[in-house]
Amino acid sequence: MLGIESSCDETAAAIVDEHRHVRSSVVASQHDLHAQYAGVVPELASRAHVERIVPVVREACSEAGLQLQDLDAVAVGHAPGLIGSLLVGVSAAKALAWSLGIPLLGVHHVLAHVHAAALDAPPLDMPAIGLVASGGHTHVFALDEMGNTQLLAWTIDDAIGEAFDKAGTMLRAGYPGGPAVERLAQGGNAHVMDLPIGRPREGGFSFSGLKTALLYALRGQPRRIDGVTVFPRDLDAVEPQRRCDLAAAFQRAAVAGLRRGLCHALDAASDVTCLVAGGGVIANATVREMLTAVAQERSLTLRIPPVALCVDNAAMIAGLGIVELCAGRSSDLSLQSMARAPLKAVL
Ligand code: KG4
Ligand code: ZN
Repeated sequence: MLGIESSCDETAAAIVDEHRHVRSSVVASQHDLHAQYAGVVPELASRAHVERIVPVVREACSEAGLQLQDLDAVAVGHAPGLIGSLLVGVSAAKALAWSLGIPLLGVHHVLAHVHAAALDAPPLDMPAIGLVASGGHTHVFALDEMGNTQLLAWTIDDAIGEAFDKAGTMLRAGYPGGPAVERLAQGGNAHVMDLPIGRPREGGFSFSGLKTALLYALRGQPRRIDGVTVFPRDLDAVEPQRRCDLAAAFQRAAVAGLRRGLCHALDAASDVTCLVAGGGVIANATVREMLTAVAQERSLTLRIPPVALCVDNAAMIAGLGIVELCAGRSSDLSLQSMARAPLKAVL
């Protein structure tokens, strides 16, 4: 199975075999391109995908020691994501499937993140609870052996990865913010202050209040003078050690918020023996420790992918594509790219 991923700012292709062994996984990141804007610029992202998609597919085949003619099927992440970016991967996948006369599978990017845990590993035990924590999503959902999914918890404002990215900008930590904040936090005291943990009344997640609290901790409490908001300090004037301390305090609060929403959803779930997580934020060591602790406390089997398969990659797309193909599903050339898409039944 060739997997293709182009939903945001990584152009990726991978080959996964029928035993879900990853034979190759190539990711061309666009971080350099977007760093100066401190966020992904959609038009730049689509253009970069167009330039990179063919070399990336070639590289994935050559690393796996395969020719295009050896492929049995093509899976592509077709939703959700940036529409211009998705279109590039979906068009490439359609062209390959049509010209090679092999099945095409459109798979859901968020579901693919949890299936990354089953690559080079045994199948997932169902029913399971899935957690996806990424730049675009903070979702908890139930998965059953029939492939049904039921969304249990979501964020009412920012995704956790988005909050990390904004924190990275405010802390002048670098881009992308998640790994940069994690690095900065290593030199800081997480207990320097208690930043607020989002507590939506009905469960779920909230990270925007935390982001604002970090801004005020860095710049001081704002005042209105002649109708203008004035902060006592500039972001660039914050001491280096204070940045490390606040990065650590931010990470502690963000992980506590993730734990709170996850545990709330787990309390309501019955018959579950497996917790499976994926998405860029699951690469964070403090998040991984928290998940290990939650799984131990609740006697759940924890399935998390290695760090390289947490962030966007195409092996996870091929992995879910194989599950779907084995269940007899495939798409046709009318497959649509969709910026937004609800979680759907997999099989
Ligand atoms: O899954 P992903 O690559 O793309 C989306 O589907 O969104 O996730 C990217 C997100 C970004 O917000 C990035 O800052 C965050 O994951 N991230 C991290 C870490 N590595 C990536 N956040 C916290 N700690 C990390 N080590
Ligand atoms: Zn993703």
